[in-house]
Amino acid sequence: MLTVIENLLDDAEVRQFNGALAAADWQDGSGTAGTRSVAVKQNLQLDRQDALAQELGNTILRKLGHHPEFVSASLAEKIWPPVFNLYQDGGHYGTHSDAALMRLPEAGLTIRSDLSATLFLSDPDSYDGGELIVEEQYGAQAVKLAAGDMVLYPSSSLHQVAPVTRGQRICAITWIQSAVADTSARALLYDLDQSIRALTPDRAGDDPEINRLIHVYHNLLRRWAQP
Ligand code: NI
Repeated sequence: MLTVIENLLDDAEVRQFNGALAAADWQDGSGTAGTRSVAVKQNLQLDRQDALAQELGNTILRKLGHHPEFVSASLAEKIWPPVFNLYQDGGHYGTHSDAALMRLPEAGLTIRSDLSATLFLSDPDSYDGGELIVEEQYGAQAVKLAAGDMVLYPSSSLHQVAPVTRGQRICAITWIQSAVADTSARALLYDLDQSIRALTPDRAGDDPEINRLIHVYHNLLRRWAQP
């Protein structure tokens, strides 16, 4: 399942991010790829220790924590510090899958990647190519979103970034360990929560049917969660 989180950053925040990132210290990204991935990865990245990357990354983490749709779709337990990357001049990332376990010893952080996330920061009209192509159960989906929008997709999927043939594509990416590891169980909970949210405004505060749906939601979550 692919979930789009619209307007994670508003227009002013996108401008602020892009202004700062235009002057950032971009480095060859192949250094952080695994031995298998290094052959297919061709982009620039900000170092994890880079002060700007940390500041902007923390802004993204704060926004995610307060975004109801992200919280509902991800049921996030742990989120990896966002990584900033830049593709240009034919830069691409060939078909790969993301590492299942990711460790950051200096932060004492280990996560199991259940969800991968890409936050698009560049205006889609300003570059050609650069689609995130995710191979799903029903075929490949190409994703290219407005600046400020984020897509969530299963880390277990094969995916790639198509070559950027004009302009620059800047994104932030991150990985999420969910309280519910199983993708289809998480998708059911998300659908149920979305319906409860859609029905609630039209009902009285003590509506018994809404209360029963909420009861079902939490008992399914209790059954499936492995925090
Ligand atoms: Ni990937």
